[in-house]
Amino acid sequence: MAQEIDVELVHVTKRFGDLTAVNDISFQVPRGSFFSILGPSGCGKTTTLKTIAGFEEPDEGDVYIGGERMNNVPPNHRPVNMVFQQLALFPLMTVFDNVAFGLKMARVPKSERKERVERVLEQVGLKGLGDRKPGQLSGGQQQRVAIARCLVLNPTVLLLDEPLGALDLKLREQMKIQLKQLQHQVGTTFIYITHDQSEALVMSDRVAVMNAGRLLQVGAPDELYTNPQDPFVAAFVGENNDIQGTVTGLHGDHVTLDVGPFQIAAPVHPQMTVGSRFHNFIRPEKMVLLPPDTGRTEPTNQVPGLIQDVIFDGAVARAIVELTGGQQVMVLVTRTSDAPLPVRGEAVRVAWEPRDAHCFPLE
Ligand SMILES: Nc1ncnc2c1ncn2[C@@H]1O[C@H](COP(=O)(O)OP(=O)(O)OP(=O)(O)O)[C@@H](O)[C@H]1O
Ligand SMILES: [Mg+2]
Repeated sequence: MAQEIDVELVHVTKRFGDLTAVNDISFQVPRGSFFSILGPSGCGKTTTLKTIAGFEEPDEGDVYIGGERMNNVPPNHRPVNMVFQQLALFPLMTVFDNVAFGLKMARVPKSERKERVERVLEQVGLKGLGDRKPGQLSGGQQQRVAIARCLVLNPTVLLLDEPLGALDLKLREQMKIQLKQLQHQVGTTFIYITHDQSEALVMSDRVAVMNAGRLLQVGAPDELYTNPQDPFVAAFVGENNDIQGTVTGLHGDHVTLDVGPFQIAAPVHPQMTVGSRFHNFIRPEKMVLLPPDTGRTEPTNQVPGLIQDVIFDGAVARAIVELTGGQQVMVLVTRTSDAPLPVRGEAVRVAWEPRDAHCFPLE
């Protein structure tokens, strides 16, 4: 059976004067999934979410929720609720009354209200705190009140606009995991906006990567990480090293890239011709450090360099290496009991297999 689709955007464009904030975007959000929209500040994330919620009307294209076309349906008649970055809790009302507010407006009878509010407070981990005022809660707890206030209305889709933005780093880390668990538990479709790639990777079933109003790639976190389709996605999702060069030879299963101070082998891209310029991305964990005088011929690419810095992080360390010619790359060093960590100033060879790189034309 085909997967049911809760939200679909079809060629949606939104302009503000001369600026095209959202440029011909199409995607589908499967029912019950955690779907993130990831991109840098100003790329059009909030505007996209607002076209789903109905706070903005697209200039072109269509928005469908639960299979129904939503164009010109006002926000309060759409089966969605939006959690804004600014929480806007009522400070003088109790947590219980904050959460019950929407139900009261909808004239849900008092006994049912009580039951639903108590159930949702338990779901978000705020059981027993209903009598407090928002000011008597931590930042993370207030955030959960804001989410509870939306969830209690049983929306088909919950829209969350950078809801963790105001929290400090440690709390964000906790809330990431809690939000993911909450979504799994209640089964409501979440569309979640963030500019933080690690947040998107940890929480989402699928991620849509945006830049400058355009949707570049939609996929599972693992797919975006291992198989980026665009240089922006390669650079933005996870850590990556970009060694750029000019194609000097086409050899069937690989090419030669002239980087300036050295030459490397790289995978073939259909647009490659001799003389064309290309990005060549290699993940830090796909590179290894070898001694400078190694007799090894594997991995294929071996470039001399000097250790600039070693960033220790428990089980792994990141070595910053300056390659011949001056470019810096990051190499992930997994600790094994017998091998000491590299030290600053040490001469090394940075080595990797060409097939582990991703090439894209340089604009
Ligand atoms: N009402 C508006 N009138 C004019 N321009 C707008 C309006 N709303 C948004 N924009 C512009 O549209 C672009 C996209 O804005 P949007 O708020 O969607 O970005 P965003 O990806 O959510 O960014 P951030 O991560 O900073 O919240 C920006 O250049 C912004 O200045
Ligand atoms: Mg925004």
